[in-house]
Amino acid sequence: GIDIKKLRAKTGIVTLDPGYKNTGSCESAITFLDGEKGILRYRGYSIEELAEHASFLEVAFLLIFGELPNKEQLDKFHKDIKAESHVDEDMKKILDSFPKSAHPMGVLSSLTSALIAFNPMSVNVSSEKDMYHAIIRILAKFPVLVAWTLRKKKGFPLDYGDNSLGYVENIHKMMFKKPNEDYKTNKIVIEALDKLLILHADHEQNCSTSTVRIVGSSHAGLFASLSAGISALWGPLHGGANQAVLEMLEAIEADGGDTKKYMAKAKDKDDPFRLMGFGHRVYKNFDPRAKIIKKAADEVLGDLGIEDPILEIAKGLEKEALEDQYFVERKLYPNVDFYSGIIYRALGIPTDMFTVMFALGRLPGWIAQWREMRLNNEPIGRPRQIYVGAKKRAFVPVEKR
Ligand code: ACO
Repeated sequence: GIDIKKLRAKTGIVTLDPGYKNTGSCESAITFLDGEKGILRYRGYSIEELAEHASFLEVAFLLIFGELPNKEQLDKFHKDIKAESHVDEDMKKILDSFPKSAHPMGVLSSLTSALIAFNPMSVNVSSEKDMYHAIIRILAKFPVLVAWTLRKKKGFPLDYGDNSLGYVENIHKMMFKKPNEDYKTNKIVIEALDKLLILHADHEQNCSTSTVRIVGSSHAGLFASLSAGISALWGPLHGGANQAVLEMLEAIEADGGDTKKYMAKAKDKDDPFRLMGFGHRVYKNFDPRAKIIKKAADEVLGDLGIEDPILEIAKGLEKEALEDQYFVERKLYPNVDFYSGIIYRALGIPTDMFTVMFALGRLPGWIAQWREMRLNNEPIGRPRQIYVGAKKRAFVPVEKR
């Protein structure tokens, strides 16, 4: 075969591929994706089967360690997580210093970074054992940070979890238990949350995951890499789309529900408006996660007895887009974010927390990808460039400019 190292040294070849549309950054055994056929599998298992039958914690184990856990392995994994679920009290002071208006994604990224100071042993992970402990710590503490971020917004006291509950149920309780009121669990809500988290758990080399891998490739610790990944996810072209979708649907509703008007805006090249929740870099047929979420949205709203006009607007937009030449030609279909916000809203999650929920789901995927990168001893990520700036020129002192 071709020795790329020698070829590069000899020719100085640099491939230019803005947005990495065709450039692979690694070999990975975690997630398989076929964008043409709309297939998504974690470690060989179809997303449809996992969403239907698995729990989020099982999927986390599967993604990170490569196999579905048996009962004993799953119990130990959960037990280890529960033993690490305390967060340093001083972290509350950091959270308290943010203004109430702070965006939860900024808060979460900062808190994840701050967690390093309180867990310095999670930074230098030279053995698989160290890695395991760092992974357990973040799987245990991240949900507490998520819950605290929401509780602070609501003005609730910052509680800890209840280790007698399942992983997802505990997250729900930490987020929603009202002060001076007993927590009542709701099977429909917990199952919906479990499913949403599974659907978001990994998606191969997307923007935030590539960020986690590239930051981790400098041997920055897991928490620092994750904090960077959270920032990458925040953007509206990536995870931030779920918030943007709901705000768009609300705006359409407030404007009289005229979907055609917004379809026209999305197609107008002089208008920066895009139909949020439509289109995907790799899915050019359909996003299998969107199909599952659309069905789940119908079920959850039905089971909870909620009639949401926004669901009808979303369905209307999808129907129009599927029949519209502009969208058909460009292969623009609803993506995972198009219907997820409707369920989050039905579950009582505020709009600006939607992307936080995405981060919560993506956590095991980021961890799995970081671990794979470290175990593969991948080199530091360092893209090349083609320089197009000024030629060499002489310095001019400020008074002569
Ligand atoms: N509405 C209207 N037109 C669109 C949309 C959209 N949502 N998405 C793409 N297009 C058009 C583009 O204008 C472009 O048209 P052109 O060929 O006439 O210039 C063509 O479709 C291709 O679009 P690109 O932006 O080149 O595709 P890319 O792969 O770079 O972008 C992306 C993918 C970012 C997801 C894009 O479709 C988009 O902005 N969608 C809306 C935001 C969104 O939903 N993001 C969530 C993605 S899923 C996730 O991260 C979990």
